[in-house]
Amino acid sequence: MILGFQPSLLGMALGSAFVGGLVFLVLVNQRFLVIRDSRFKMPVLVVSLLTLTGGGFFLALVLPPLWRIGLPLAILAGILAGECQRLFRRRAWAGSPPVDTVFHDVPFLKPVTTTDLVCHRYTVAFPDWKGPPFRLVHLSDFHVHPAFDEGYYRRVLDRAATFEADFAFFTGDYVTRAESIPILERILRPVAKRGDFAVLGNHDHWSDPARIQTVVERAGIRMLMQRSETLLLEGQPIHVIGCDYAGYAKIYIPPVPEAPGLKLALCHTPDGIFELSRKGVDAVFSGHNHAGQARVPGLGAVIVPSRYGRLFDHGHFVIGKTHLFVSSGVGAATPPMRFYCQPDIFVVDVTGVD
Ligand SMILES: [Fe+2]
Repeated sequence: MILGFQPSLLGMALGSAFVGGLVFLVLVNQRFLVIRDSRFKMPVLVVSLLTLTGGGFFLALVLPPLWRIGLPLAILAGILAGECQRLFRRRAWAGSPPVDTVFHDVPFLKPVTTTDLVCHRYTVAFPDWKGPPFRLVHLSDFHVHPAFDEGYYRRVLDRAATFEADFAFFTGDYVTRAESIPILERILRPVAKRGDFAVLGNHDHWSDPARIQTVVERAGIRMLMQRSETLLLEGQPIHVIGCDYAGYAKIYIPPVPEAPGLKLALCHTPDGIFELSRKGVDAVFSGHNHAGQARVPGLGAVIVPSRYGRLFDHGHFVIGKTHLFVSSGVGAATPPMRFYCQPDIFVVDVTGVD
């Protein structure tokens, strides 16, 4: 007897509480993390966790023996089936690994990786591109925060500039809270030779979107909010499409140009990938997921604020003809720390197909 419970009953109750915790993780990933930041968000998360784990524990005590075993097993089987589906899809949609990564192995005993920036380089050939090779640099999720040394953000931008990219894409979440906007104003600058483009992320919408838009544009970066621009590179058109993401399911995708040319979309969340792919976009550049921000060695990201859970946590994917790039981002949201999860920038060299 332990605390008045039969050991077998206590074991089943703890098992049911564990399954409740797994259900919480599934719900957090797909529903709760993308609701608007407020003083209620953390209490909602805590109450949900306690309800699901405590509920699982309680149900195991009161349900008949068959249900006590069958219900958590059925839920566990459903979660495992979802995980198998995710692994299958990741394999089917896997893109190419980086052709080069300025990589720092994260020692197991050094879990805090908050400013341990890496750069991933990719080379992609697009059948729709008839022009000369060019280079993109992709930066996301600065989450400029007073807890960080301002010099860190400047070093990231300096590093991005060293690649001498033709175009730079900034995919949102410049700050976590409005009080950091003056820091953003001090550090932000363009880094590409021919043009820098930006969209907002959900945290920008939850703080002060109009002011952030002004700061970004004053820095010399063109904001594409639900609109597209067509650039010409040696006479060949590149359509840059700016989506807007205000959190949860609010992804606003502007009309995609039907004219010939390469179609590149900036969309803070990768959750717009299937609609953008259906609309014929060649590549989508996203952030938002922070690669989980805290990763478990051997397991990867656990909590990812996406309707697809951990499916598109980070990296390069190919869905149909559409390439999806999901950056880990430069900064970190609440709490402003990363664990076994490095910040990154992507450099993508674009060519046509001979
Ligand atoms: Fe973010």
